[in-house]
Amino acid sequence: MAKDVIIACDFAGEEETLKFLDQFTEERPFVKIGMELFYSAGPSIVKKLKDRGHPVFLDLKLHDIPNTVKKTMAVLSSLDVDIVNLHASGTTAMMKAALEGLTRPDGSRPLLIAVTQLTSTDQEALEKDLLIYEPIETVVMHYALNAKNAGLDGVVCSPLEAGRVHEVCGESFLTVTPGVRFADSKADDQKRVMTPEKAREAGSDYIVVGRPITQAEDPAAAYRRCVKEFLGR
Ligand code: C5P
Repeated sequence: MAKDVIIACDFAGEEETLKFLDQFTEERPFVKIGMELFYSAGPSIVKKLKDRGHPVFLDLKLHDIPNTVKKTMAVLSSLDVDIVNLHASGTTAMMKAALEGLTRPDGSRPLLIAVTQLTSTDQEALEKDLLIYEPIETVVMHYALNAKNAGLDGVVCSPLEAGRVHEVCGESFLTVTPGVRFADSKADDQKRVMTPEKAREAGSDYIVVGRPITQAEDPAAAYRRCVKEFLGR
């Protein structure tokens, strides 16, 4: 199975993003485009990055009625992205509809992964705001299993949860994990972090790394270090 480092391109606009990626002369890293960049630069940013040779994870976290998600996923699939995502809390029906929308006439489709519970949601918010009284770990694993049963390819989760997700959903079910930091870099606002090497040992399939690379003095060198630590090459 392909394992890779995905750079979170959390930039406000296209110019800044392209300028950042111009620093990569030897390789074409997998990149993540989030809501801020997609909504400011528009769908053409995906085409520009794909034309430059970057695999793209489009992190828009869809959540709507099944029919709307299905039709929107068809649009995203036509952009030739490599990974897209949605909220597992949108239900199994929504996840199945998403897969239908993503599948192209030739049968190919981008990978589809689910967000279980956002890491910004804690047990208190789960109970007080959402009236969900199960332990958060139970909810996360239940949503992961729903995603697996709906036919999805994996989930976004903490590297600390990757091993358990594989136990519950199988080794081939992908774990895409943010919250990665070098041993000598600062944690920023991430609460629970792991180094790329530990994330590999914990079973992460893709690590999503933002500021340790985007804010580095030499981003290409930081990326190469990350690949070396994560993939061991
Ligand atoms: O800069 P940093 O490495 O913290 O960036 C991590 C990326 O992963 C950001 O784009 C952030 O929005 C995303 N993410 C996260 N935690 C989650 C889900 C997504 O950090 N639970």
